[in-house]
Amino acid sequence: MSEIAEFQQLNRQTVPNHVAIIMDGNGRWANLRGKPRIFGHRAGVESVRRAVSFACEKGIRVLTLFAFSSENWRRPKDEVSGLMDLFSWALTSEVKKLHRNQVKLKVIGDRSVFSESFVKRISDAEKLTENNDGLLLNVAVNYGGRWDIINAVKRICAEMSDKGESFDADVLNEQLVSEHLEAPQDVDLLIRTGGEKRISNFLLWQLAYSEMYVSDVLWPDFNEEVFQRAVEYFASRERRFGCTGEQIRGGKR
Ligand code: FPP
Repeated sequence: MSEIAEFQQLNRQTVPNHVAIIMDGNGRWANLRGKPRIFGHRAGVESVRRAVSFACEKGIRVLTLFAFSSENWRRPKDEVSGLMDLFSWALTSEVKKLHRNQVKLKVIGDRSVFSESFVKRISDAEKLTENNDGLLLNVAVNYGGRWDIINAVKRICAEMSDKGESFDADVLNEQLVSEHLEAPQDVDLLIRTGGEKRISNFLLWQLAYSEMYVSDVLWPDFNEEVFQRAVEYFASRERRFGCTGEQIRGGKR
């Protein structure tokens, strides 16, 4: 298939293949109710369930959720430890249901700083679901887009050195770097709740050609209706990938 025909096909998609979500607004949601921030994070778990069910129903292939950025360690200590406990709990309590629904779970990010028991819980959950062929659910914890790119290049270098080869910069190309990222699939639709129009060091490489939908809804209020609006917005966009509108609509060069 020619490159333009490939872009035309991508432009005709009504359901995005890969949706990434920046789940923002938990703290504000809790503040509005006079509660501590962790209350909002806990309420956010229900929105995660809704988002995963919706993605499965719609036939979305990959859903990547930004749960904790490499910069979120700067938050107050009790919020950070509350969040880590919540992830650990959610991982164990939700994994069986994910497995029953053929969801394949992957935690992306730098896990070198996590406790041994947390790393084990992650690996157990990933192992249990690794052969599932439904939705791929990536949960980004201690993740940063810049880290992901640097890490991909480090992995490439390590593989070359394992093969006894010296590093040759000419081997670097987009496909090779993509393949070594934590989540190699390009994002089609990025959703951000909480109203801010920022990427916040999320999937920097993978977001190159994604459509972006920002909702003012705070994450604990995120539901199927908001997700559906985002998908409809995506379907209405003309995706050009650097080509002209005529090329994408008519196939002219
Ligand atoms: C951003 O809101 C949210 C987070 C940093 C944490 C997201 C975590 C969850 C939704 C909990 C459940 C997740 C999983 C994967 C089980 P914020 O605190 O920045 O909100 P604010 O902008 O209103 O302060």
